[in-house]
Amino acid sequence: MRVLVTGHQGYLGSIMVPVLRSYGHEVIGLDSGLFADCILGPAPQDPPAIRLDLRDITASHLTGFDAVIHLAALSNDPLGALEPRITYEINHQASVRLARCAKAAGVRRFLYASTCSVYGAAGEEAVDESAPLRPLTPYAESKVRVEDDVAAIADPGFSPVFLRNATAFGFSPRLRADIVLNNLVGYAVLTGEVRVLSDGTPWRPLVHARDIAEAFARCLVAPVDAIHCHAFNIGTETNNLTVADIAGAVVDVVPGSELVITGESGPDPRSYRVDFSAARDRLGYEAKWTVPEGAAELYEKYTAFSLKMEDFHERFTRLSHLKELRETGILDESMRFVNAIA
Ligand SMILES: NC(=O)c1ccc[n+]([C@@H]2O[C@H](COP(=O)([O-])OP(=O)(O)OC[C@H]3O[C@@H](n4cnc5c(N)ncnc54)[C@H](O)[C@@H]3O)[C@@H](O)[C@H]2O)c1
Repeated sequence: MRVLVTGHQGYLGSIMVPVLRSYGHEVIGLDSGLFADCILGPAPQDPPAIRLDLRDITASHLTGFDAVIHLAALSNDPLGALEPRITYEINHQASVRLARCAKAAGVRRFLYASTCSVYGAAGEEAVDESAPLRPLTPYAESKVRVEDDVAAIADPGFSPVFLRNATAFGFSPRLRADIVLNNLVGYAVLTGEVRVLSDGTPWRPLVHARDIAEAFARCLVAPVDAIHCHAFNIGTETNNLTVADIAGAVVDVVPGSELVITGESGPDPRSYRVDFSAARDRLGYEAKWTVPEGAAELYEKYTAFSLKMEDFHERFTRLSHLKELRETGILDESMRFVNAIA
């Protein structure tokens, strides 16, 4: 298939592109390049790409594709809180525009990177895809709005599917240190402490970035009836863990590290467990990587590529990196590059 991947220069995109290529798909990227140089270790082999702000997409950019995989977004809660208006502009309005343009250009499948955080504070029961959506942040709210608005334009020639990914972990050449496991392992490697700011009790469903890539690859080729307008939780029940469990896995792989639970961040309402059976039953999909395996992989890569404290806190932390690009005048207030994208 000929596939457009938006956000191909992100944390997940940099892992997903080679996975899709390994299945024989022709991949073209689309990204504005916010994190193009935020690389640890050897640089990834980027595919041919359109360098464009998603907000400027037109149907002509989308002609000739069989499918769009839409990853591009301001992608996490702190970023969304920094600038809710821009988060809605990019994550919601531009995403819906992309879907409309794709439909107008004759693209038949639209695979959307949603998130399990659409469930918000879900209580003790594991949530499946029919659970009420109670987003707690502008980021999660933007994802709910896209699911609603894009589902509304589905028709027999245009099949959207919504992959509600658990929180990712694992090494990507475009590293992110602001997601829980990557953060805990990095801090432990750099300081010897596995530092948990909450009281350790919130539940977090986790999934390896490569397993997310495999889920998208599966949805590209699944029978259309299996995916048309469906939402799927992407992850595995094995990785429904508390923050304290996750921290324990880190202590086990980082030699000499010590667990410190500070509790300084106060109660965290973003606690939920997720049921992943729909993807298993309808797509035959099963996420494979466990958290201890992911922690071991991160430890190995961080030490092999000599992770540095400054990069950990700046280039590999989305909020700090984008603030820096704004403060140095590279991005304007609306997160657009000041000098036109080449
Ligand atoms: N990483 C996770 O834990 C996780 C979990 C659930 C869902 N998701 C979703 O998966 C997708 C990818 O996540 P990620 O972790 O790779 O994010 P990321 O922040 O690493 O990458 C996002 C990419 O989108 C691009 N982008 C942002 N705004 C753009 C714009 N206006 N125009 C063009 N490109 C733009 C950035 O340059 C970047 O390359 C996101 O939609 C995210 O919400 C991620």
